[in-house]
Amino acid sequence: MIKGEKVYLRPILKKDVTFLNEWKNDEETYRYLGGGFMPTSLDHHEKWLDSLIDTSGNNKRFIICDKNSAPVGMVGLYDINWIHRTCEIGIYIGGENVKGKGYGKESCQLIEQFAKEYLNLRKIKLNVVSENESAIHLWAALGYEKVGEYRDERFIKGKYKNLVLMEKFI
Ligand SMILES: CC(C)(COP(=O)(O)OP(=O)(O)OC[C@H]1O[C@@H](n2cnc3c(N)ncnc32)[C@H](O)[C@@H]1OP(=O)(O)O)[C@@H](O)C(=O)NCCC(=O)NCCS
Repeated sequence: MIKGEKVYLRPILKKDVTFLNEWKNDEETYRYLGGGFMPTSLDHHEKWLDSLIDTSGNNKRFIICDKNSAPVGMVGLYDINWIHRTCEIGIYIGGENVKGKGYGKESCQLIEQFAKEYLNLRKIKLNVVSENESAIHLWAALGYEKVGEYRDERFIKGKYKNLVLMEKFI
């Protein structure tokens, strides 16, 4: 468990698949994420649960829980490169009533600290859709800097969107 003030991060359990699937089916939460919005059945979700759970490889995902141990989202490090000591970060807070409470920011701070102090990583990268205001604010507040932008990179809700590339040395 990785402990913070408002939240803690814990590994994913098989039983988490029920709310992971609810979040996956929430258009607002998923449309700006890399995989995009794709309605997914619980049966299908269960098929790739093992790869979500596995923290032994180059992707490490954690469930974000609030102080009452209620699951409020997922944060992860992806494509860890052990030679260059880089990785990507991804996060979502699931459900409307839990966004904007500082959970996202603290979860990122916790996983950044873990990346630095236990995985010996030195740089974290990310992609964010340019119109995703809450995420742009989050990354700016955490000290990520814009290093580029792909034009018309993602097709979301009928329109092509730019994708901003950001990085942070931790
Ligand atoms: C982006 C997301 C993870 C932010 O998590 P959150 O818990 O709601 O954000 P926090 O409450 O921790 O706020 C973090 C910062 O962003 C700002 N922020 C959050 N939501 C905002 C909004 N809708 N508009 C403007 N600023 C916003 C906060 O003010 C805060 O800045 P501060 O520290 O300077 O005060 C969340 O909105 C989400 O899950 N979005 C859908 C998935 C997604 O887009 N993930 C990121 C992909 S790159």
